[in-house]
Amino acid sequence: MRRKLVIGNWKMNLTPADGVACVRSFLAEVDKDLGVDVGIAPSFLTIGKVQEVTYGHQLLVGAQNCFWLEKGAFTGQVSASMLRDHGLDFCLVGHSETRGRFGKLEIPESTVPLFSESDESVNLKVKALLLAGLMPIICVGETLAERESGNTDSVIKAQIEGALEGILDQELDRIVIAYEPVWAIGTGKVCEDDEANRVCGHCRKTLAEQFGADASNQVRILYGGSVKASNARGLFHQPEIDGGLVGGASLHGHEFAEIIKAAL
Ligand code: PGA
Repeated sequence: MRRKLVIGNWKMNLTPADGVACVRSFLAEVDKDLGVDVGIAPSFLTIGKVQEVTYGHQLLVGAQNCFWLEKGAFTGQVSASMLRDHGLDFCLVGHSETRGRFGKLEIPESTVPLFSESDESVNLKVKALLLAGLMPIICVGETLAERESGNTDSVIKAQIEGALEGILDQELDRIVIAYEPVWAIGTGKVCEDDEANRVCGHCRKTLAEQFGADASNQVRILYGGSVKASNARGLFHQPEIDGGLVGGASLHGHEFAEIIKAAL
């Protein structure tokens, strides 16, 4: 039985003071072992304060991105080993916002020229995180154009295979996959429960082809994209969905607490 996992991705939101207030607010409602793993990925500058207030609580704290080399002349980057030394538990990898997969027509202020993380760099980051002892949460998902042209499954399969190239069988249980359709992120358009379940099942099938059924059944596969308290229960109780990666709704303590409770 896979334990449910709910991760809040704060993106470029919440100052240290606001982050502390948010964490205090949801811990006031869910601060006991609910049988669900919960994590928060604040901005780099907010991580330290969040760690201070969550010390001794069962809350995972992670980063939203990292660089794959250990050190060197890489202005603005933070390595996986630095995240480990800072006491972090996990790191998001391959989020559509760091892959830069927003099509120009879908989002006018496209991030494509700014980030452009590729399957290859995702793979390097996954390896660096595993080496440093952190849990990579690998985001995959199709754009609206890819869905409408019937390419959802092939896009997801290629992203998973690219991210996990060269990963050892025994490393698989330290990895989490998050299925996040790009068209559902921050748009309020949530993927229907049964379709989200189908694609998460497709992720697991792709893992099984490379690592075998037993290993793939250990992996937690999350859904992300406009998850809110009102739709979380239906999504999280699908057989192939093991929890959620929550953006906007994780910025509000009470709403996030309700989402966590929906995973029970
Ligand atoms: P959202 O973001 O919940 O605001 O749609 C999800 C994500 O980007 O991880």
